[in-house]
Amino acid sequence: MVRKIAICSQKGGVGKTTTSINLGAALALLGHKVLLIDNDSQANATTSCGISQQDIRLSLYDILTKPDQKPDPVIRKCNLDTLWLIPASGKLVSAEMELVREMGRELILKEKMEEIEERYDYVIIDCTPGISLLVLNALFCCNEIIIPIQSQFLALEGIDQLLHAVHVIQKRMRHSIRVTGILCTMFDRRTKLSSFILQQMTSLFKEGLFGTVISVNTKLAEAPLKGNNIFEYAPSSNAADDYMALAKEVVERKNRDWKETHCRSEYAESAGLAIKPGAQLGEENDTLKYMIESLKPLISAVMSVDHATAAEPEAKTEKPPEEGAPEVPKSVSDTGSSAVPSAMEEENVLWG
Ligand SMILES: Nc1ncnc2c1ncn2[C@@H]1O[C@H](COP(=O)(O)OP(=O)(O)OP(=O)(O)O)[C@@H](O)[C@H]1O
Ligand SMILES: [Mg+2]
Repeated sequence: MVRKIAICSQKGGVGKTTTSINLGAALALLGHKVLLIDNDSQANATTSCGISQQDIRLSLYDILTKPDQKPDPVIRKCNLDTLWLIPASGKLVSAEMELVREMGRELILKEKMEEIEERYDYVIIDCTPGISLLVLNALFCCNEIIIPIQSQFLALEGIDQLLHAVHVIQKRMRHSIRVTGILCTMFDRRTKLSSFILQQMTSLFKEGLFGTVISVNTKLAEAPLKGNNIFEYAPSSNAADDYMALAKEVVERKNRDWKETHCRSEYAESAGLAIKPGAQLGEENDTLKYMIESLKPLISAVMSVDHATAAEPEAKTEKPPEEGAPEVPKSVSDTGSSAVPSAMEEENVLWG
């Protein structure tokens, strides 16, 4: 059965596209049939696959905005034998406006993909930053999400909004989606801050954090300029090893929830040793601690969903929160995020 994974983060520039193309390529090299979907009007994943904007006749924009547009004519073959791409073009930026009056507009991609998805082992969707209608289409289409987090100061900023969105989609919208893992990207083992953040992420997400860490490597930034993935551009680089290790871990994490997955981060262990508890890193330390404390209830809410029964109607009576435990907001609108509520509050329209 196909696994559909959205690579998603509310923050820009954290390695979503780099992860999408190189994870996709690594899975293809492992012999899996992979469809990559470029769901970002910046079209970086498309360019990284060696397809220029002048060369695009049909794109994801056409699939989303034209009711009769089938995905097949849009799909392009990439350089690897078992890797295909639905490209993006700059036009995608206007899709949100065009769909604003469309009923069930969050579900368009899911419906269109149903016709073709079983041909693939993996569908990987590179998302635009933030939580927009395009991202909601990806989340409803997928059953899994990978969240890249850059190992730098304020790394966790805004992740609460994304976890709220996942929580609402799981519980209120009754869509079965689980977080396959949080991925630490652009890790620089030479800096104390990178190690500190990885240590904090390990203690916060525990098994939710991939054991694989993606280190900083300029080859990853150079490869897209040649229209290549890292396996074409620098197959013997450490970066290629990192993404191959990630692909193997993703394959291994099939059907596993955070609770069951064993965390094997050597980096995290060495970082834990390198940074003594209570080490002072100035204000950054306090901000991170504050974020971590506020994220804990959300993470347990996202984790506690029984995915096998996520599609079951929610019980009417809710358990009161434990004494002292911060309350998990009932809707994304409680977070102050603007894009999600407008979509979510129409669940009576969506679910009839
Ligand atoms: N591990 C890495 N080492 C060095 N450079 C990296 C690494 N990962 C990504 N980069 C570079 O960092 C920049 C941002 O990465 P990327 O485009 O993958 O992020 P993104 O989350 O998709 O950004 P956006 O939110 O704008 O879509 C790019 O120039 C990319 O080449
Ligand atoms: Mg990107």
